[in-house]
Amino acid sequence: MSRFTLIAGNWKMFKPPREAVQFSRRLVEAMEVPKGREVVIAPAFPALAAVAAVLQGSGISLAAQNVHPAPRGAFTGEVSAEMLRDAGCRYVIVGHSERRSGFGETDELINRKLVAVLASGLKPILCIGETLAEREREKTLEIIARQLNAGLKNVAPDDMEGAVIAYEPVWAIGTGKTATPGQAQEVHAFIRGELGGKYGTAAARRIRIVYGGSVNPGNMGQLMAEKDIDGALVGGASIEVASFSQIVNYAEV
Ligand code: 13P
Repeated sequence: MSRFTLIAGNWKMFKPPREAVQFSRRLVEAMEVPKGREVVIAPAFPALAAVAAVLQGSGISLAAQNVHPAPRGAFTGEVSAEMLRDAGCRYVIVGHSERRSGFGETDELINRKLVAVLASGLKPILCIGETLAEREREKTLEIIARQLNAGLKNVAPDDMEGAVIAYEPVWAIGTGKTATPGQAQEVHAFIRGELGGKYGTAAARRIRIVYGGSVNPGNMGQLMAEKDIDGALVGGASIEVASFSQIVNYAEV
């Protein structure tokens, strides 16, 4: 596949800074980033700078899990894209379903965050995905189209270089219930089609669309065999060195 595979570990609120640093050291020692693959880890804010120092020269990149849309200002408790870049981040996750459902993030806010990430020279990982109720009502593609188009509002084709879309069906997150490769491929192909309509087929072919939701060493190879699945956003299985390394070193089946 011509697209560079992206495998990102979203650590959510699991590793305090000291543990994050120790874990990152073990990861760097244990893992050689395979050719044609890009590995990213996303610790919590307080661990970012210290983990960035550990990752130097390792080939593993750093991501943040969230960002405020403003460049700076009186926003107590918030963190800007510029601060994340300064801390050593290359990517920022925006629109994760845990932020949509738990913190009231709307498509409009997520779009402002994504635009801020791009403006600061970082790469967004835009998460989109339907709930179980939406899937059962056969609304999946409608929801995906809405979240994708709203999330990418006012984003020019050039800005999409390096941007990543993560399809994360909400019902598959942390449940052990992975989308089948066929279910995931159907949505990924749809997303690529939408991107093609927006940015042209050639550009859409270059944009990475990764899958997230109960990815583990046992299902990664099958998911990656699908033609529009360009990597994974991994939660639970990314917070252990062994399982994350196995996922990174998957073989397509
Ligand atoms: P799990 O891999 O634990 O299902 O989490 C997926 C996720 O939310 C990644 O962002």
